[in-house]
Amino acid sequence: MKLLIATRNPHKLTELAAIFKIPGLEFLNLSAFTNMPEVEEDGLTFRDNAIKKARAAALASGMWTMADDSGIEVLALGGQPGVRSARYAGEPVNYAANNAKLLKAMNGVADRRARFSCAVAICDPKGVAEVAVGYCHGTIGFEERGSNGFGYDPLFIPSGFAITFAEMSAEEKNKTSHRARALHLAATMWKNIFEKATDTPTPLAS
Ligand code: IMP
Repeated sequence: MKLLIATRNPHKLTELAAIFKIPGLEFLNLSAFTNMPEVEEDGLTFRDNAIKKARAAALASGMWTMADDSGIEVLALGGQPGVRSARYAGEPVNYAANNAKLLKAMNGVADRRARFSCAVAICDPKGVAEVAVGYCHGTIGFEERGSNGFGYDPLFIPSGFAITFAEMSAEEKNKTSHRARALHLAATMWKNIFEKATDTPTPLAS
């Protein structure tokens, strides 16, 4: 069976394929299609945006589709950057500018608690979706450290560690990350959806 992954972010694809391992499941991504609508990520929550992305791609492709939406929420900033994480420093998406803006916003701030969140939506070909959400709590560092990963990884120190996500190997990050947690839940969700399916997958109940 084929599952469309509704992302063009190669980092996310790699993380996702490493974690969401279902025997017999083959991944396609958006680069295999030319007719995909651009989706505006204007939801108020990661959950809303994940569903929106998965549904748009599922309806356009007629395939079972998975999409994620993720970001970082900083307690002292009232949850910012939040759903605006990708474009925190404006368009186009620029990881270095986002990190510089976040460090500036946190200048002199003692309470550096933050969490990464990830919502993973699985949508059937008719547009009915289910969502799993995972979190990873931690703190914002005082300077960028490490060169692995992407996005805010050089600034995020997960709870229980003294190093940033960007100083971890991919395997280490995948043991603890918000995306890994959401994907493990999504894998269970996937198995539940198809548990009773025989040769034809059963559409989700609306
Ligand atoms: P999305 O593509 O709309 O989900 O945007 C997510 C944004 O949140 C990315 O552009 C990154 O800035 C940030 N982000 C999400 N997950 C991670 C992660 O695992 N590490 C670092 N940054 C992340």
